[in-house]
Amino acid sequence: MSRSDFILAPSILSADFARLGEEVSHVIAAGADWVHFDVMDNHYVPNLTIGPLVCAAIRPCTHAPIDVHLMVEPVDCIVPDFAKAGANIITFHPEASAHVNRTLALIRENGCQAGLVFNPATPLAYMDYVMDKLDVVLLMSVNPGFGGQSFIPATLRKLAEARAKLDVYERETGRRIRLEVDGGIKPDNIAQIARAGADTFVAGSAIFGAGLADDPNRYDSVIAALRAQLSGHGKR
Ligand code: DX5
Ligand code: ZN
Repeated sequence: MSRSDFILAPSILSADFARLGEEVSHVIAAGADWVHFDVMDNHYVPNLTIGPLVCAAIRPCTHAPIDVHLMVEPVDCIVPDFAKAGANIITFHPEASAHVNRTLALIRENGCQAGLVFNPATPLAYMDYVMDKLDVVLLMSVNPGFGGQSFIPATLRKLAEARAKLDVYERETGRRIRLEVDGGIKPDNIAQIARAGADTFVAGSAIFGAGLADDPNRYDSVIAALRAQLSGHGKR
């Protein structure tokens, strides 16, 4: 992954599922970078959402990377299905995999970028011995399962700790791993979250809750507001 600007990844969990293709096109046209795709299985988390069929259905609607966040257990059997459905990035929770190293390798073997997701109570130590297999580290700033929750402030300190680990790794290897954060992100807290070290931001309700349902440009102003808060914090 190249050194680039901040990435905005709208979570389609809060989109209008009856018009999902349009929602994806509109939010990318408004200036978003990735499509964040939340997969919940009513087992690892207490909610049930969308799978590879829906990923394949939205794939033709955009050239933007699809960032699949797996909240499922077990993980490995579903990885090839999402790769075939057009996913570009696949992340999973280490507690949900019997063999973290193997799952990360499997994701890359299937042609996708790989990442680990850390719940608020999950220690960062899970990343220490698999750094070479990581393209993304995703810190949850809410407990996974639902959109529309409030950002947990302790995530800021954890982001700084993760940033320090990733910076050491980049200095040693020249390879950059993205630091993504997911949950409760809004225009009024994104600058602080960027200062703590995040470079990739998932936002669901803040983006898809904006504007009037029938306005195709409804996401322009919220994406612009999020970017405006990020400008001035430099490139990561
Ligand atoms: C929560 C999901 C998030 C969620 C974010 O389990 O992983 O991606 O959709 O939604 P907001 O931005 O509304 O907190
Ligand atoms: Zn997510």
